[in-house]
Amino acid sequence: MAKKFYITTPIYYVNARPHIGHAYTTIACDTIARRQRMMGFETWFLTGTDEHGQKIQRAAEAAGKAPQQLTDEVSAEFRALWDRMGITYDDYIRTTSERHKLGVQELWRRIRDNGYIYKGSYTGQYCVFDELYVDSAGPGEPCPVCGRPTETVKEENYFFKLSAFAEPLIQLYTSQPDFIRPETRRNEVIAFVRSGVRDLSISRSTFSWGIPVPDDPKHVIYVWLDALANYVTALGYGSNDASKYEKFWPADVHMIGKEIVRFHCVYWPAFLMAARLPLPKSIVAHGWLLFEENKMSKSRGNIVRAETILEVLGADALRYFLLREVVFGQDGSFSFDALVQRYNSDLANGLGNLASRTLAMITRYFKGEVPYPSHAASRTPADDAIAKLATKTISDYQASFEQYQFSRALESAWGLVAAVDKYIVENEPWSLAEKPDENSRSRLGTVLYTAAEALRIVAALSHPVMPGATAKIWAQLGLGDITKCFLLDLRWGQLHLGTKLGKVEPVFPRADKSAIERMQQMENQEKSASGATEAGPAAAAAQAGASQGASQGASQGSAPLNKPAESLSPDGKITIDDFAKVELRVAQIKVAEKVKGADKLLRLEVDLGNEVRQIVAGIAEAYAPETLVGRKVVIVANLQPRKLRGLESNGMIVAASLGDGKPVLAGFLEDVPVGARLK
Ligand code: MSP
Repeated sequence: MAKKFYITTPIYYVNARPHIGHAYTTIACDTIARRQRMMGFETWFLTGTDEHGQKIQRAAEAAGKAPQQLTDEVSAEFRALWDRMGITYDDYIRTTSERHKLGVQELWRRIRDNGYIYKGSYTGQYCVFDELYVDSAGPGEPCPVCGRPTETVKEENYFFKLSAFAEPLIQLYTSQPDFIRPETRRNEVIAFVRSGVRDLSISRSTFSWGIPVPDDPKHVIYVWLDALANYVTALGYGSNDASKYEKFWPADVHMIGKEIVRFHCVYWPAFLMAARLPLPKSIVAHGWLLFEENKMSKSRGNIVRAETILEVLGADALRYFLLREVVFGQDGSFSFDALVQRYNSDLANGLGNLASRTLAMITRYFKGEVPYPSHAASRTPADDAIAKLATKTISDYQASFEQYQFSRALESAWGLVAAVDKYIVENEPWSLAEKPDENSRSRLGTVLYTAAEALRIVAALSHPVMPGATAKIWAQLGLGDITKCFLLDLRWGQLHLGTKLGKVEPVFPRADKSAIERMQQMENQEKSASGATEAGPAAAAAQAGASQGASQGASQGSAPLNKPAESLSPDGKITIDDFAKVELRVAQIKVAEKVKGADKLLRLEVDLGNEVRQIVAGIAEAYAPETLVGRKVVIVANLQPRKLRGLESNGMIVAASLGDGKPVLAGFLEDVPVGARLK
């Protein structure tokens, strides 16, 4: 029977469009899946989208769309990106699909019937951004994970007896040291569980965007129980056809980002234990991709889209860069400069150059047929050193890969590329070609055979990382379909003598400086296009917000929010649809305080009815903080968050701007309920 391998990505939230942070996880999984296939494993690779919960419901409201419409659009965008990148996923699960819903409800019933669910009520804090119950925070306190204000939730819920699994979980982590990788994450999880776990609320009853609880449809299932179950529902768990589930569960690897370790390493195994289902074999957490020192994320506005890189340098360049540059498990920085530098040094000048010079010389000197290496008599220690290094590279590469040390694996393969380059320079095949004697001809054959064989080995090893370019090199070597190469048999000396080369073409054309500018420009254009639709009308509708916008801009040194939107018609008018994009709401100020070191800024916490959020406003010179508490104001509620003096500001207070720039807050004569929308 074929060996099986099942790997999953997290399913991506559809409140944000895909960026290279998401692509990073998917690329890592795709690379592993491709390698497993090349090692003869029957491989199943799952990805998909996480479409329920309060966060998505709110994102849809803010976008003026039905949740299903938003999820359909964004889920399709993720899928289209993976297709464009050539990601070899075998299934794409959406949590709004019927197959998923049935499976989740079945899992719920099983946990319930085993006695691990009871009804209660939850009063406490909740972080909508992380969809996390925050037991440790008091009202108004921030989420310890993301720092955003938590909201107080008071509702009837169903609870899961998580406390019953503290001991079995510790037992699991200690008996299977590889269950959580890397070690640092494992230690964190052990410390977390040892510090005591409380029962977990697993349903919500104050909104409806989710899967109904079986036999009690007033409740929807907590979005993390819903989401985690995708790993089994996608295999048909709970359906009439569970053959895939029987075949591939338990998963070999759940690949995740480090911020969702608790859900995967504590909640998920506990749910499975409660349902008496087998546990996944391992959970591997990687670090974050940073851009300008911060985690790349939509809310920080510092994302880079994969599309830009695909267009300028191609998917292989992005894949190679992410896996080579970032030490897997740790955070790593992304920059266009570093990307282009690596591309040129390792791909254009490194592998690409080795391929084109070797293949071009075989074409020129041996009519495109792989030459014979000479017999022992004319071999030199340098030839054998390359063969020896290649053999060592194969085993080092494989060992590093097994440990998810992609960067180290690639480093060892590129050590071979560098050694062969040096070997070519030192042996001067071009000079040998000019000498008519038998011995020189034989040396020439040996040198070019050695270079071509090393090239073949590097191409095979790095195929899972750079499928496109290595497939081309393989075909140019005259070897056909690279995916048929069986990695476990890869050895020095398998390149057949006399193999007829395919058409030789460059695989990695050099990128010049303009590539960096082009990518930066594409990203800036994208940002100003999306900024124009959100900030433009906001500024137009709420002129006075300009006073805050201007001070935000000034204090951040960035473009002010009220710059003219490029999408305005020539007469400067906006359409009603443009205006409808601005979510103006009534909010009540709960907390107001000065921001240290910023004369103009106040930090406010405002209540919107269903959430409390933090806004940093440039009104300190006009209002004393104590006069503001309790006052109702109008805010732009769907503005992208931004950081001011290190504080996240989630929205903008609307005010009139008088001649001297002094802001006067907008308000109502009548008493208007908190949360009401202005249209
Ligand atoms: N929907 C949940 C996961 C549910 S899985 C049952 C979720 N979604 S997410 O879209 O916010 O993030 C999914 C994954 O994207 C993260 O775990 C991480 O793997 C990846 N990343 C998103 N931003 C990232 C970076 N800036 N850097 C690296 N990975 C990032 O959490």
